[in-house]
Amino acid sequence: MDLMLTGRRALVTGSSAGLGEAIARLLAAEGATVVVHGRSADRAEAVADAIRAGGATATVAVGDLATDEGAEAVADAALADGPVDILVNNAGAYDQLSWADAVPDVWASTYNVNVISAVRMIRRLVPGMRERGWGRVVQIGGGLGLQPMAVQPHYNATLAARHNLAVALARELTDTGVTSNIVSPGAILVESVRALVTEIAPAHGWSGSWEQIEHAAASEWVPNDVGRFGRPDEIAGAVAYLCSEYAAYISGATIRVDGGTIRSAF
Ligand SMILES: NC(=O)c1ccc[n+]([C@@H]2O[C@H](COP(=O)([O-])OP(=O)(O)OC[C@H]3O[C@@H](n4cnc5c(N)ncnc54)[C@H](OP(=O)(O)O)[C@@H]3O)[C@@H](O)[C@H]2O)c1
Repeated sequence: MDLMLTGRRALVTGSSAGLGEAIARLLAAEGATVVVHGRSADRAEAVADAIRAGGATATVAVGDLATDEGAEAVADAALADGPVDILVNNAGAYDQLSWADAVPDVWASTYNVNVISAVRMIRRLVPGMRERGWGRVVQIGGGLGLQPMAVQPHYNATLAARHNLAVALARELTDTGVTSNIVSPGAILVESVRALVTEIAPAHGWSGSWEQIEHAAASEWVPNDVGRFGRPDEIAGAVAYLCSEYAAYISGATIRVDGGTIRSAF
């Protein structure tokens, strides 16, 4: 299937690692020119190099989206070689803090990194999409926004905010040719998730091969119908679809990629 992304330019925030890296690689493989972003120039360049080695075009934008200045610098770098048609707001951070440890300042800084960072990029890049009459904004949300756990309440709440703002943006973009949607991952096996599962496995009695540990952790921690954690490429596939011409009639929607972790029918 040709997603018809050739000629489109995409900025994927937080694409120096994890889900963002997989999204940037897939959009590039599908023909888009990709701007790889992170705070570490070395890590972002390494991803861009790998994309270029595969024959696609990639540039790098470096900056901390938690500040207005950092976000401006990222937008300037992304726009230096042409317009941005596709914005994937993926950058974000999470931890395992409890209610007791998540003090008000942690709530505020998490909201800034996980929500306002995306707002900064939307405010800077969506007006150009609107003027050109074509654009795609994809927000990475998460099932914990809808079905939170006791831990990391400050993070769970930011996921809910991401879903909410993406739908408000879809309504704002009525009749513009620009869509706004959400991909909502379940627990996805990135490096930090694998490290965490490995660390807590003994205390939970999860043992054996990695496959056995993963199956036990997925069953107890994030019960789902597939019996494992998701893979970054599975998130990337949903994002690429939403960025394609095939998804032109989808706006304000959520695609859950969670193996059935969220039990709701709608
Ligand atoms: N993995 C999951 O199970 C899962 C599930 C649901 C939702 N999500 C969401 O998916 C997104 C990616 O998560 P991940 O698991 O792939 O995490 P990850 O491997 O830790 O990658 C996070 C990315 O975000 C960037 N980043 C973090 N804070 C930033 C900041 N202040 N300014 C600019 N860039 C920043 C990092 O760049 P640096 O190189 O600068 O550190 C990195 O590229 C997050 O928003 C997360 O909430 C993940």
